Amino acid sequence: MPNIIETYNLTRSYNGFNAVDKLDIAVEQGEIFGLLGPNGAGKTTTISMLCTILKPTGGSAKVNGFDIVKEAMQVRKSIGIVFQDPSIDDRMTGRENLYMHANLYGVPTGEQKSRIDRVLKLVELEDRADDLLRTYSGGMRRRLELGRGLIHYPKVLFLDEPTVGLDPQTRDHIWNYIKELKYTHDITIVLTTHYMDEADRLCDRIGIMDHGKIIALDTPPKLKETLEGDVITIKAAKIDELTALLAEKLGLMQCIIVDGDLEITVRNGRAVMPRIIETAAENKFFIESILMREPNIEDVFLHYTGRNIRVDSTRELHGFSAIQRRKIR
Ligand SMILES: Nc1ncnc2c1ncn2[C@@H]1O[C@H](COP(=O)(O)OP(=O)(O)OP(=O)(O)O)[C@@H](O)[C@H]1O
Ligand SMILES: [Mg+2]
Repeated sequence: MPNIIETYNLTRSYNGFNAVDKLDIAVEQGEIFGLLGPNGAGKTTTISMLCTILKPTGGSAKVNGFDIVKEAMQVRKSIGIVFQDPSIDDRMTGRENLYMHANLYGVPTGEQKSRIDRVLKLVELEDRADDLLRTYSGGMRRRLELGRGLIHYPKVLFLDEPTVGLDPQTRDHIWNYIKELKYTHDITIVLTTHYMDEADRLCDRIGIMDHGKIIALDTPPKLKETLEGDVITIKAAKIDELTALLAEKLGLMQCIIVDGDLEITVRNGRAVMPRIIETAAENKFFIESILMREPNIEDVFLHYTGRNIRVDSTRELHGFSAIQRRKIR
């Protein structure tokens, strides 16, 4: 598949600080490409430049074959955007809002009604189309915003945290639309999210971003393969001493403490687990519980960024909480 987005040393700096730092990525036509990263990693800045809302201070990029600076108008015609912050005027009805956007994007007058009806059907808002947006729930607004991003049949749809703060069912619903768009309308989707499970399930490829750079980029299975292997989680008293003991006796170095539990990444978890239990017992450590699982995208994220990711509440929309992290050397 050809690349629909290419960036070359794409950079945006603010007073000498590079929010996006010499980014080189290529997104293939028709893929769902996820950008993951901690708060402030540069995801929104990247998307804003690709959408021509923000000018790069260095490098360049092409979207749908057009230069984001020199051919900004053509880029705009090629894309749809759903912003991180809700950008909807709630004194309008859903349908009015869609008409306004159809006009903004130059959709021919004769085609507006049929396209709007189609989009309303796609996001299942036909029943509520003539209600004021202020009477919509958060999930309905988000769905309308998604629909709005599609009104001019974009080649690329940029979604900056499309599901943040929504309940699990609504999130699921929105992800289904996103998948449907990819398959039925051949739209390339670039999204940012803090929901690791969804990124894992839906993205063809994921780029992990931190400090303005891509630090890992691959398909979810390949990213997981880059980790050492299994993750063993131990709940126990005197966790620091136990960690030191396991490092000394078993050479287990890939240890971090997450929420008071010890997480050890090892190559052959099944063989290592009994030895951990044995060593702990011999040295009079009481293990409350010990679990093993295969690595997930959250582990990959943690591995590359050194930070845990969590969406704690709908109020703190994209809240990360730093974890206690300790590598033993
Ligand atoms: N207008 C601005 N002026 C100065 N600094 C800015 C401006 N916009 C963004 N930044 C900085 O650029 C960095 C990247 O911000 P950006 O919004 O791209 O992060 P993000 O990855 O989208 O984070 P989040 O997960 O919180 O949405 C941050 O350090 C931010 O403070
Ligand atoms: Mg952002």
